Amino acid sequence: MGNIPSQNIEQIAAANDIVEVIGSYFPLKRAGSAFKALCPFHQEKTPSFTVSPQRQTFHCFGCGAGGSVFRFVMDYEHLDFPAAVRKLAARAGVPVIEERGLGGDDDRQHETRRTLLQLHAEATEWFHENLLKSKAGAPARDYLKRRGIDRRIAHDWQIGFAPDSWDTFLKWAIDRGYRRPQILQSGLIKPRDETQPDGDAYDRFRGRIMFPIHNDVGEVIAFSGRVLDQETEAAKYLNSPETPLFRKGRVLFGLHKTKRGLIEANCAIVCEGQLDLITIFEAGITNVVAPQGTAFTENQARILKRFVNEVVLCFDADTAGQKAAERSLDALLQNNLIVRVAEMPAGEDPDSMIRKRGREEFEKRVAEARDFFDSWIEHEAAATDLDSLGAKMQLARKLAETVARVQDPLMRGEVANKVTARLGVARVDFERLLSKPARDRGTPEESRGEAMAPTPSHEVAMLCLLALRHPEAREFLLAQEWREMLGQTPDAEILGRVLGTDLRPDDPASINAFMTGLPTGEEALVSSWMLQKMPPNGLEVARGWWNGLRQAVVRRQLQIAEGRMKLPRLTTGEAVNLQKQIVDLTEQLRELSRFSSVRVLDT
Ligand code: CTP
Ligand code: MN
Repeated sequence: MGNIPSQNIEQIAAANDIVEVIGSYFPLKRAGSAFKALCPFHQEKTPSFTVSPQRQTFHCFGCGAGGSVFRFVMDYEHLDFPAAVRKLAARAGVPVIEERGLGGDDDRQHETRRTLLQLHAEATEWFHENLLKSKAGAPARDYLKRRGIDRRIAHDWQIGFAPDSWDTFLKWAIDRGYRRPQILQSGLIKPRDETQPDGDAYDRFRGRIMFPIHNDVGEVIAFSGRVLDQETEAAKYLNSPETPLFRKGRVLFGLHKTKRGLIEANCAIVCEGQLDLITIFEAGITNVVAPQGTAFTENQARILKRFVNEVVLCFDADTAGQKAAERSLDALLQNNLIVRVAEMPAGEDPDSMIRKRGREEFEKRVAEARDFFDSWIEHEAAATDLDSLGAKMQLARKLAETVARVQDPLMRGEVANKVTARLGVARVDFERLLSKPARDRGTPEESRGEAMAPTPSHEVAMLCLLALRHPEAREFLLAQEWREMLGQTPDAEILGRVLGTDLRPDDPASINAFMTGLPTGEEALVSSWMLQKMPPNGLEVARGWWNGLRQAVVRRQLQIAEGRMKLPRLTTGEAVNLQKQIVDLTEQLRELSRFSSVRVLDT
């Protein structure tokens, strides 16, 4: 997908009055110059959710959520940014312009995706027809019937059958007008020799039940094929390879059908595979997803966090299932998902257990699923001699490694309580183990996550507020050597972003567009500034705070120089230079503070 240019974003923001947009979801009450309501993002009894018609932003003084009109739609409807933009564009009748790169590279990619999506859609239908109607499909029909998949379910999930032949699919696709390179790219056929893509090729899926894999908007992007009889040597399941449409670690099977169920339950039942998921869903439990046999990836966990706060792992009782659960944990904890583990009877998975013992038994096990840490601590502690201090500390170290991966400090504290109580180790000792640097976290390219932005100092915050809302103050700041100054000021990145973006302080649409480029935490921070009272003499205040910032920088440099002076074995030249520097910096500092005291008298 192309980039949406910021002028277009501004245009869409300008065409969507935030009061009307939010007001179309729930009623807003006028309160002075703003509008208020109970916050939809946290539980509260008195309204602290505020919408500003002047600023065209929202902010909740209770939970700190806030931002642009796009942010509201994203968070309220659980959409990603492009989807929210499209939705608001459609609402206002503004066309969305998607920039494709020069040279037509993106155009070609777009075209490739379109063709592949169409091929997958048509192939899905063809496989499905094969299952329902063809003679060759009879054993597959019988097999599915034995597993409780009737015609209606097969239709709803578009289950199909790939004939047991080397080239029936390939011939069909050529007949439909697809070209060989396209079919190869879909992964549905395979070259006999990978080094010679132009040579012979054959159908990848032969004699298999076909489960289409959908993306979250319901387009088929890959397949998973299951053999009919267990006796063959071939792998039980075979998946599409990675293609321009499909990356296994980014897809959750079933999500296109289960989104609503997830949001409503605020909890995801996670099972291993497609048949588990289909059986659970068809039993009427609709908040379920499957990572399809892999451990959860960071990406899948992040997708899930858009819909729920809690997951219940329902993996097979076998060791492979337990291993998958353990390996899923990192990704889940890093996204602050509460993890519970449901126990399946030995040798069973959710599919077999629901069929044998019924939905109620399954629901009961999900409801009784224990917090991951509880069962895990107990499990580990049972295998350790807690009377031996050495063994105990070794276990504490092991547990600390995982506990340290919980990102949310509150949740981490709770878990630490459990561990220390169960093991009988001092809280301080455990804290020390926790503070050891944890392993690498998250991917920066996709860090548009929930993480709270570090709160900048008061002076940085004030300068941001003025640079965002006061045209003269902004002009003044832009005329300073702000890049150099901010490079030497801790936690000032946000001011750098405010000054480095081409925005117009008096234009709410332009501010909304600016906000869309920020990480969630910073956007919330900015939304709180948008609602703050502005000082009457904005320009003077900006000069004053800027001066304060400069003094802080000079003071820091002075400290560094004075520290160096105390170093042993300075050469005479070095000492002289440092001395000059100190005199110079002291003089600068005097100038700056004289200026600021004059200002104070002025105002
Ligand atoms: N899987 C896979 N490749 C394999 C085996 C398994 O991709 N060779 C994935 C499938 O998504 C499968 C899941 O891992 O659904 C769980 O595997 P398993 O427990 O072996 O199969 P079941 O889901 O129980 O499938 P079935 O009931 O059809 O045996
Ligand atoms: Mn099974």
